[in-house]
Amino acid sequence: MSEPPQRPPAFVYGSGRGQRSLCCEQVPLAKVAERFGTPLYVYSSHSIRERVRAFHQAFEKVEHTVCYSVKANSNLSILRLLSDLGCGFDVVSGGELLRVLRSKGAPPLSRSVRQGGIHRRAAGNIVFSGVGETVDEMEAALRAGILIFNLESASELEALAACSARLKRNALVAFRVNPDVPADTHPYISTGLHEHKFGVPLHQAIELYARAAKMKYLQVAGVSVHIGSQIMEFAPFSAAMERVADLVRQLRAAGHSIEYVDAGGGLGINYQDSSEDFPKRVSAYTQAVTKPLRGLGVKLLLEPGRCVVGPAGALITRVLYTKTNGATKFIIVDAAMNDLIRPSLYQAEHQIIPVQVGHSRRELVDVVGPVCESGDFFARGRDLPVTNEGELLAILDAGAYGMSLASNYNSRPRAAEVLVNGKSAKLIRKRETISDVIRAEVAALS
Ligand code: LLP
Repeated sequence: MSEPPQRPPAFVYGSGRGQRSLCCEQVPLAKVAERFGTPLYVYSSHSIRERVRAFHQAFEKVEHTVCYSVKANSNLSILRLLSDLGCGFDVVSGGELLRVLRSKGAPPLSRSVRQGGIHRRAAGNIVFSGVGETVDEMEAALRAGILIFNLESASELEALAACSARLKRNALVAFRVNPDVPADTHPYISTGLHEHKFGVPLHQAIELYARAAKMKYLQVAGVSVHIGSQIMEFAPFSAAMERVADLVRQLRAAGHSIEYVDAGGGLGINYQDSSEDFPKRVSAYTQAVTKPLRGLGVKLLLEPGRCVVGPAGALITRVLYTKTNGATKFIIVDAAMNDLIRPSLYQAEHQIIPVQVGHSRRELVDVVGPVCESGDFFARGRDLPVTNEGELLAILDAGAYGMSLASNYNSRPRAAEVLVNGKSAKLIRKRETISDVIRAEVAALS
């Protein structure tokens, strides 16, 4: 019987009691599902470690910081693991900032204001890359002493200047430029074209830097760019970096000291083919990013998200029912679009494999969730081994933008999360209860 695709070293089949059974590292997923229930996100720390190492190795010849993009997966234990691996962080909100600080054991913000310095140690490798930071968020980031703000408009610059003057806190700033470079990806996650809301046009940049340089507490220090996510080609990255390198030269000629270039994130993963060689992919990406910067002597900031955690996670779900409507056989599972929205939102195709390899007979099925929308599907017309009620399926490559985009739609409590390390499986987020879901609401009389 041919074996379904796997994701070594995170998800591989092992044999026990004569059956091929999917494991996360050395932990059988059937057991984890039994213990923690389903739907359940399971992550492999080994896989995350390997991926971060590949990044560090590929960029070892240049001074760099891997600022993991928190939005991809913001669980505190994942952040802690990444921090232990020497990563910094890219945050886009006060909430993400707080998560990073908490994951490093820093006290809540209000306490640290009195204690001074504690956050500075925890926050020195954080970049703030929000499109619309509020004053409260700026204040929190200034107090925490983050490394650099990536600004996206003149108004945001004014707001940060006012905030830093009020708090009497210095800050390094960069502008995120919009390089007007197309990247072949889903339109919702392409960000580097002039019609997109992101960044400032290159032709406005010089003037904005000149304005920023006059602000008392701000110091111009970098240029940042991010052209989109799930980008599989390397040419768009080099095209964007060529433009950034040109700008760095122009800014230096105008007297600015540009120490940092932030290359953003966006390196895609192969959702279809599990045999890809990640270190090779990262090293091709490294070439694309670093070649245009040669000779500039800048410190490189990188903001990968998906490629660090995506293949390290799977969503484990149990089949509730099967039924046939007309010509279509439906597998109704206990996970739904509220748990993993990528198929519904971006027409993403995640591979789905059985946790226990059983049937050799295959059939075309739709794998769907219990939410009341036809858009609630994980796969349509997918060729899968025959799957019966009560069996478990693993939806692969769900470590990035899975749980972090989960919602309570249909009043469904969010899934639990488990982090595996070798033989150990730790619960890193409890399953929500319906009381958690309605906690902030009141049944008010009108
Ligand atoms: N830096 C910035 C400024 C970003 O906006 C993003 C992602 C990243 C870094 C990380 O990009 P990555 O390395 O993960 O591609 N929910 C979508 C993806 C949205 C990406 C948003 N920005 C999905 O599920 O495909």
